[in-house]
Amino acid sequence: MVLTGGGDCPGLNAVIRGVVKRASQTSDWEVVGCVESFNGVLREPTEIVELDEKRVDGLQIQGGTILGTTNKGGPFAWPVRQPDGTWITVDRSDEMLRKLRYIGVDAVINIGGDGSQRISLGLFEKGLNIVGVPKTIDNDLSLTDYTFGFQTAVQICTDAIDKLVTTAASHNRVFILEVMGRDAGWIALHSAIAGGADICLIPEIPYDIRRVREKIEQRYNKRHGYCIIVVAEGAKPCGGDVTGTVSDEVGYRHIKLGGVGEQLAADLKAAGVEHDIRYTILGHLQRGGTPVAFDRVLASEFGVRAMEFVIDGRFGQMVAYHHPDIVGIPLAEAVRTQNLVNPAGRLVHTAKGLGIAFGD
Ligand code: F6P
Repeated sequence: MVLTGGGDCPGLNAVIRGVVKRASQTSDWEVVGCVESFNGVLREPTEIVELDEKRVDGLQIQGGTILGTTNKGGPFAWPVRQPDGTWITVDRSDEMLRKLRYIGVDAVINIGGDGSQRISLGLFEKGLNIVGVPKTIDNDLSLTDYTFGFQTAVQICTDAIDKLVTTAASHNRVFILEVMGRDAGWIALHSAIAGGADICLIPEIPYDIRRVREKIEQRYNKRHGYCIIVVAEGAKPCGGDVTGTVSDEVGYRHIKLGGVGEQLAADLKAAGVEHDIRYTILGHLQRGGTPVAFDRVLASEFGVRAMEFVIDGRFGQMVAYHHPDIVGIPLAEAVRTQNLVNPAGRLVHTAKGLGIAFGD
């Protein structure tokens, strides 16, 4: 059984296709898909769909996930409404494992981010034959060089910068582009370099608003006439906090990041920047549409290898990209640390060498 969990991400369908195509080369394995992460097993009636080669034809180009996904709840924390209208979560993992045995599921491939792989680990420790496949546009999973979806998001942000440059230059404006990435600045950093931004603000390097203003003035003093700032949604000022809201969605564990671009525009005005400032939030555009070729290839490799792990009985592992190989990492290790930008690392060094300021 294959399923997708967490936020969607370009390349999920290419993984599903890889799994199904590889399984179809064996006589021992048939693949079914569970709808909306593990919810399809937990619901009554169950929502499990058959997946054959015909169903996955051409799926490598399709964004989103044909199985649906969710980043709420899950077998260990299933939301249940109480008579007074409040919600509690209950552990339904044992019941789900019984159901999987009853349905005749021999192995599960769970495609998802850190939250989903923690669920994979919990279920593996309870005896489920499970293989993890990492996904996230944020590229914040350690122990894999890249996650698929990331390059697509970076391309979308870079295209957006290219477009903002022409309007910024025409109006002599400061443009702020807010991009996703949660606690990691990878999307911002890569797209700032690729798009030739002047300032890049990331969660790993808290910014001083005065230093950001200095860089803006420097641009205008040198008669560049405009300034492009890429800000990661998780960026924060020195001594300050992230911008976002506590979600009111049931079972949603995170703070919903968003709004730092608008806040930054206001702070820059308050700090005395007199040029016109506009901000753009790319939001979920970064997760939509077709995956770029790199992500299709990586996702296809993950799908094929994950199925081979199942065939070989290599459970409790997450497939990972260690250039030039696709390897297996024990799930317990895979979820231990986040992959964050190293402020003293190569890419920040390159960016600074290009004159990109980080507000530090
Ligand atoms: O983790 C992927 C991601 O797109 C983050 O970059 C972003 O903060 C979050 O998901 C948005 O989540 P949601 O789709 O639930 O608003």
